[in-house]
Amino acid sequence: MEQLHACDDRPGPAALEPCIIVIFGASGDLTSRKLIPALFSMYVQGNMPGPFAIVGCGRTPLTGAAFKELLFARLGERLRDSRAWHAFADNLDYFPIAYDRQSFQVLARHLEQIDREKQTRGNRIFDLAVPPDLYPVIAELLGGAGLAAQYQTFPGWSRIIVEKPFGRDLETAVALNATLHEHFAEEQIYRIDHYLAKETVQNTLIFRFANSIFEPLWNRHHIEYVGIVAAEEIGVESRSGYYDNSGVLRDMFQNHMMQLLVLTAMEPPARFETDAIQDEKAKVIRSLRDFSIEQGSRICLGQYGQGEIGGRSVPAYRSEAGVDPRSPTPTFALMELYVDNWRWQDVPFYLISGKRLPRKETRIIIQFREVPHRLFREVLGQNINANRLLIETYPEEAIRLTFQTKNPGASICLRTMTMDFFYHQHYKGAALDAYARVLLDCIAGDHMLFWRQDGIELSWAFLTPVLQECEECPSPERLLHFYPAGSWGPEPARKTMALLFGD
Ligand code: BG6
Repeated sequence: MEQLHACDDRPGPAALEPCIIVIFGASGDLTSRKLIPALFSMYVQGNMPGPFAIVGCGRTPLTGAAFKELLFARLGERLRDSRAWHAFADNLDYFPIAYDRQSFQVLARHLEQIDREKQTRGNRIFDLAVPPDLYPVIAELLGGAGLAAQYQTFPGWSRIIVEKPFGRDLETAVALNATLHEHFAEEQIYRIDHYLAKETVQNTLIFRFANSIFEPLWNRHHIEYVGIVAAEEIGVESRSGYYDNSGVLRDMFQNHMMQLLVLTAMEPPARFETDAIQDEKAKVIRSLRDFSIEQGSRICLGQYGQGEIGGRSVPAYRSEAGVDPRSPTPTFALMELYVDNWRWQDVPFYLISGKRLPRKETRIIIQFREVPHRLFREVLGQNINANRLLIETYPEEAIRLTFQTKNPGASICLRTMTMDFFYHQHYKGAALDAYARVLLDCIAGDHMLFWRQDGIELSWAFLTPVLQECEECPSPERLLHFYPAGSWGPEPARKTMALLFGD
């Protein structure tokens, strides 16, 4: 039963400063699928600052009214009669833009006019919901139009939100950071990883460092291995253009999987402050043992073939629209990593992610060691399950701890039981969607849930040689194992999959 609430003193809506949120790529999918619903839910829950304005920018020539109509149509029935939507939409506008200097000068004047009309005080957030090749272009143009400057020509602040993918290797990530930094200081840049905004992912830190009973066990003496799994049922969907050039290592490992690993493995920060946390995270990535396939590091790459999911036949990856029929792009990967430090020496971290697996499951598995003395061996045989802790993000947001107990009755029979905690149990407040969380934090100027420059570069520095080994070897397809869609991945990964899913 919950007993006590301890809350931090992050700014409530009244303390959030007025601002204009400018969304580039406003007529695209990300805007209507994620950004506008998140902003609308924040508005309904009273989490938007007052006053605020949202300006959608895109190449598509639309009027403000047509933009609202478009969103209205895409957002579906649930908004049709909503008075709240109309009140929210009064703050929405559209600005057709060409990605050139002149257009950005006009945009700058347009934003100044909104500032005067709505008292938004020169505070701006620029959200780049555009293809990644436009990130540097927009950063340059914003800089050129004076829109990156803070507290100078304008009295207010200027922040830029960059979605993933943040580069496609170390070199491109460093170059992108350099371009952003020509105009924006690090404190103005918000690099999104939507996994960090998931409540259960954030809770990993609280769970580890606000309880005294787990931390003493959280090390190589008590933990046999750690599993980090993001299994997905969906295939490449309509994103083949991006995905076939990226693959699972860039799409999931460089960002989301790395964040889950880091949150599981990091040392307690000295203070619950952004930089102290980011410093500890960076240390984990720095401690990762060099990974070399040639020298025997374990990786298993897979690609889905034709198969069946939920009784429905689904095509092979190579037959998906827009995918090269001879594509060597992996849709599944298992990596066995080691964190070389006192806490984790020689504890394997199994990172697994794949598309077209039987069901969607996202979880961190902490497998504790077996008891040192098998007291019950004679009666029960050799195998007594060791304790296991599951931190689940999907399908449930839950924490589960398994332990051994005696069956009721005369004979000594052990059974494995699980204590479950469901994240929203006993909580009556409104839930905050992951995108709403990051937007809210950006408005509040809080960087805790975003990647810092060194973290992103360290992550690429670790992964880039692995990608090179995989992609630049004479026949990359030799490393690729095919698996039928709807199965638990390629054959060489099955044993580890069984280990991680055997709960
Ligand atoms: C995205 C990837 O970042 O994360 C997708 O580009 C993937 O390929 C998605 O499907 C998974 O996110 P979630 O929140 O559904 O686990």
